Amino acid sequence: MRVAIIGQGYVGLPLSLAVATAGHTVLAVESAGDRLNALKQCRSYIVDVSDEDLREATAGGRFFPVRDLRDHSAADVYLIAVPTPTTESDEPDLRLLDSALATVADSAGSGALIVVESTVYPGALRHHVAPLFERLSGLRAGIDVWFAHSPERIDPGRDAQYAEIPKLIGGLDERATAEACSFYETVFRNVVPVSSSEVAEFAKLFENTFRYVNIAFANELGRAAREMDVSFREVVTAAASKPYGFMPFFHGPGVGGHCLPNNIHYLNHALSSVGRPSALLTTAAQVNNAAPEYVVERLVTALKHRGQSVEGVTVLVLGLAYKPDVADARNSPTYAISDLLAARGMQVRVADSWVPESREAGSFSRVPLTVEECANADAVLLVTDHDDIDYGLVFENARLILDCRGRFDSPKVEQL
Ligand SMILES: NC(=O)c1ccc[n+]([C@@H]2O[C@H](COP(=O)([O-])OP(=O)(O)OC[C@H]3O[C@@H](n4cnc5c(N)ncnc54)[C@H](O)[C@@H]3O)[C@@H](O)[C@H]2O)c1
Repeated sequence: MRVAIIGQGYVGLPLSLAVATAGHTVLAVESAGDRLNALKQCRSYIVDVSDEDLREATAGGRFFPVRDLRDHSAADVYLIAVPTPTTESDEPDLRLLDSALATVADSAGSGALIVVESTVYPGALRHHVAPLFERLSGLRAGIDVWFAHSPERIDPGRDAQYAEIPKLIGGLDERATAEACSFYETVFRNVVPVSSSEVAEFAKLFENTFRYVNIAFANELGRAAREMDVSFREVVTAAASKPYGFMPFFHGPGVGGHCLPNNIHYLNHALSSVGRPSALLTTAAQVNNAAPEYVVERLVTALKHRGQSVEGVTVLVLGLAYKPDVADARNSPTYAISDLLAARGMQVRVADSWVPESREAGSFSRVPLTVEECANADAVLLVTDHDDIDYGLVFENARLILDCRGRFDSPKVEQL
C-alpha cells in the first residue's frame, strides 16, 4: 500500500520504518526543514532509528521523505503522528493535528484509511477530527473514508522490538476498525481491536496517567521515608519481590517528556466535560511539580551541613534529557531545578552527552563531564542517569553528590 505518515518525530519515524519494512511505500511527511533534510541524507535524529535503517529503507525504494503531500498522488493510508501539546491554560492544543488533517484532506480520496496515532482525549476523533476533516475535504467519515485511533506506545530508548508492541485500534465504526486492523496486521505482530475510538483514546491516557499518579505517590512516600530514615528505594525493591499485584515506581526529580505532563490535562479535559474531573490527577500534578523544589531543598540542606553557604556555589547537574539514554529534553526537570538553583544565586552547569547544545535554553551553561568540572563544582546533582555517564569519575572527583536516581551505592553519596 501507499502510506503517508505525517510527522517524523519520536513516533512517526520508527513507525515509517516499520511500515516500509513491512513492504509498503512510505511518504514520510515532515514540515521541519532540518529534519526533512536529515531524512533525505539518511541521517537519523531519533535514538531508536539508525542511519543504516534509513539507508536500507531508502535503497529499497520504500521510504520517501516529503515536505508537501500535494506534490504527490493520493495514498491508501494516512497515519498522523504530530505533537499534541497543551495551551498556556493547560487545555488540549490540537492546532498541529488540525494542520496535519488539512494536509490529509488535500490529498485523500475516497476509500482512504486515516488513523490518528497522536495522543488525544476520549471523543476527539469523533467530535473534533472527523467533523473537521469532513468540512475540509467534502468526504464523509464512515461512508467515503475510514477513521481510527491507534495510540502509540513506543518508549524511546528502550531496546524493544517495535513491531512486537501490541497495537490498540479503535475505529469510529466497525468497518473502520476492521480496515485499520487489516492494515496494521501487516506491520505489527499483535493487533488489539477495541469497540470504539473512545476506548482506544481513553486506554492510552489511562496507561500514561497511571504511571504519573504512581510516580506522584512514590514522590510523596519517598519524602516521608527520608524523614523516617528509611530508604524508599529499598522499600520499593522489597515490595517488588511480590510476584503479583504490584508494579515498582520510584521517587525522582520530577516528570518530564512530551507525553506525561500533557496527558494529565488531556484526560482531565475529558473528565471535566462530564463534570467528573479527577482530584487524584490534580493532586498528583501538585506533588510531581513540587519535586524540583524538593531536590533543591535537599541540596541546600546538604551544602549547609557541610558549612557551605549557598550563594555563589557551583552545581554540576548531570542530565538534561527527561529520561536516560534519549536526546529529548522536553519538559525536563533539569530546567525547573536549574531555575530554582539560579534563583538562589548558584552557578549551574549542565553535562549531557545526548542532548545537542542547540536545544539549550535555560539558566545554565553546558559543559562536558570532566574531572575538572566535577572537582571544581561544590556539588554534583544526578538528575538523569544516562548509561554513558562515567560514574566512577564522578564518585572519585565530586565533593558532594546528590543522587536523584539511586545510581550510586555509597554512604558518602546523598540519596534523594
Ligand atoms: N515521544 C514519545 O515517546 C511518545 C510516545 C507515545 C505517544 N506520543 C504521542 O505521539 C505524538 C507525537 O509525538 P512525538 O514525540 O513523535 O513528537 P515529535 O515532536 O518528536 O515529532 C512530531 C513531528 O511532527 C512534525 N510536524 C508537526 N506538524 C506537522 C505537519 N502539519 N506536517 C508534517 N509534519 C509535522 C514536527 O516537525 C515533528 O518533527 C504526540 O501526540 C505524543 O503525545 C509520543
